[in-house]
Amino acid sequence: VTSSLVIPAAGSGARLGRSVPKALVELAGVPLLVRTLERLACSAKFVETVVLAPAASIDALSEVVDRVADAQARALGSVRVVAGGATRQQSVAIGIAALRERSAVVCVHDAARPFVAPATVRAVLGAARAHGAATAASRPSDSVRIDEAGGSSAALERSRLWLVETPQAFTRELLERAHAEAAREGREFTDDASLVEAAGATIRVVASEGRNIKVTVEADLVLGEELLRRQAG
Ligand code: CTP
Ligand code: MG
Repeated sequence: VTSSLVIPAAGSGARLGRSVPKALVELAGVPLLVRTLERLACSAKFVETVVLAPAASIDALSEVVDRVADAQARALGSVRVVAGGATRQQSVAIGIAALRERSAVVCVHDAARPFVAPATVRAVLGAARAHGAATAASRPSDSVRIDEAGGSSAALERSRLWLVETPQAFTRELLERAHAEAAREGREFTDDASLVEAAGATIRVVASEGRNIKVTVEADLVLGEELLRRQAG
C-alpha cells in the first residue's frame, strides 16, 4: 500500500516569537523541519512528500528541505515545497491538492513535532490502512474538568481522555472528501481527525510511544534538547 506525506510547516510560530518561521528554528543546531523530515524518513516509506511553507519563506524552507530530500529520497519520495494557507486546515488542503501520486493513504504530520517515535508513525499508518482514519494521541497527565452551567464544573474520566497529536493518516479519498466538505460548509477544524470525523468517519486512536511534544513555546525547546540528550544516550 502506497503512502504520501503532507507536512504542515506554514505557521509563523507566533507563540515562539522568533524572527524566523518555527520550522527553521534550530534545536541543537538542526532546524525543526529537518529533524521532523529525518524522523519520518526513518519510520516509513512514502512515494511523495509535500511540505507547506509560509509564502514569504518558500526559498528559505526549500533550501533546508533540499538537504534532506536528496539524502532521504528513498524514504520520502519526491519532495516538494508549496506555499501554505492562512490556517493549518487551509495549508493541509493545499498540500492534499498538490499531491501527484494517487496513494492509498495520506499521512499528515506537523513540522512542529520532531520527536515522534518511528513506531508511532508505523502504527498510525497501519491503523489508517486497516480502518481508514487514525491519529496518534497521549493521555493527559493532569486531571481534566469541563464547564457546567451556572459557573460549576465536572470532573472528566482521565483514563478515557486523549490529547490529540500528529501523525494522523487517512485513506486519501476519505481525506480529500472530508476537506472538500469542510471547505464547502466553511467549517474550520484544528486537526484533520476532527475534520474527517465531521464527514462521518470513525477515528482510531494510537497511543504515542515516548513523548511526541509539539514545539510551541520557548520552554518546549529546552525540553526538546533534553529529549534529544536522552534519545542519544
Ligand atoms: N501550520 C500551517 N499553516 C498555518 C498554520 C500552521 O502549516 N497557516 C502548521 C505549523 O507550521 C505547525 C502546525 O501547523 O507545524 C501546528 O501549528 P502550530 O503549532 O500552531 O504552529 P504555528 O501556527 O506556527 O504557531 P503559532 O500558533 O504559535 O503561531
Ligand atoms: Mg498555530
